[in-house]
Amino acid sequence: MPSPRHVVAIASGKGGVGKSTVTTNLATALARQGLSVGLLDADIYGPSQQHMLGVPDNTTPDQQDGEFLLPVEAHGLKTMSMGYLSSAKTPMVWRGPMASSAMSQLLEKTLWGDLDILLVDMPPGTGDIQLTLAQRTTLSGAVIVTTPQDIALLDARKGIEMFQKVDVPVLGLIENMAAYVCTACGHVEPLFGEQGGEALAGQYGVPLLGQIPLDRAIRECADAGQPIVVVEPDGAIAGVYQLAATAIMASLGQHQPAQAPVISMGD
Ligand SMILES: Nc1ncnc2c1ncn2[C@@H]1O[C@H](COP(=O)(O)OP(=O)(O)O)[C@@H](O)[C@H]1O
Ligand SMILES: [Mg+2]
Ligand SMILES: [Zn+2]
Repeated sequence: MPSPRHVVAIASGKGGVGKSTVTTNLATALARQGLSVGLLDADIYGPSQQHMLGVPDNTTPDQQDGEFLLPVEAHGLKTMSMGYLSSAKTPMVWRGPMASSAMSQLLEKTLWGDLDILLVDMPPGTGDIQLTLAQRTTLSGAVIVTTPQDIALLDARKGIEMFQKVDVPVLGLIENMAAYVCTACGHVEPLFGEQGGEALAGQYGVPLLGQIPLDRAIRECADAGQPIVVVEPDGAIAGVYQLAATAIMASLGQHQPAQAPVISMGD
């Protein structure tokens, strides 16, 4: 069974910084570049991709041979989420496994097909769960999402250091909610301060892949199950995501190809 050429974790120090929104938009931006893209929602405690991708509530993935799952197609992406598996129909094996093995199982037991890249929407934080996930999964790299607020930057720091500790290359930072675009006059207001992401990127020697403004349309699109990259493919925000997507693929091309995935199950 073919495994994705690259598996890239999208991580953040804390929740609510827009990690899932960034993952969805980055995934669709990559797909628009003609790549075959998968999206794994590994946020076991608060899966939100189903909602953001507009996948109907009652959707459950088809199974094969009583062991494998077929990804759910949405916006040209092959997706899998704990959210698809939380209904009463879910087989016992998918319920209650420890968070770290739940993610490896979702990764290993989904028939992704031939993927250029699989993005993993990681659970927020930099604790043991995230560390274990990073160690157990063969990651080609990680992208850290942060807001410009000091506290989020502190958390982002921990994220960078965690991936460095387990030798996963940090491909770059995405600063989300970087500035507020006024809907009345269009002026740009740096609500949470300026240059935070740039300073952090400089300090760790990792690229700042993009700065996404705090924009009402982003939230409205996400709530409607339509990534803004799909709704406004030629808009400024989609442009930022396209540049980030290109930089990520270029950076992956420079790193060593992934080793064979380590399949570990059952604990
Ligand atoms: N750049 C943005 N502008 C406006 N709203 C945003 C932006 N990024 C995320 N949001 C909104 O913020 C909320 C939290 O985003 P989410 O992606 O769920 O965060 P996380 O996955 O980090 O917890 C969502 O309602 C989302 O629509
Ligand atoms: Mg999330
Ligand atoms: Zn204004």
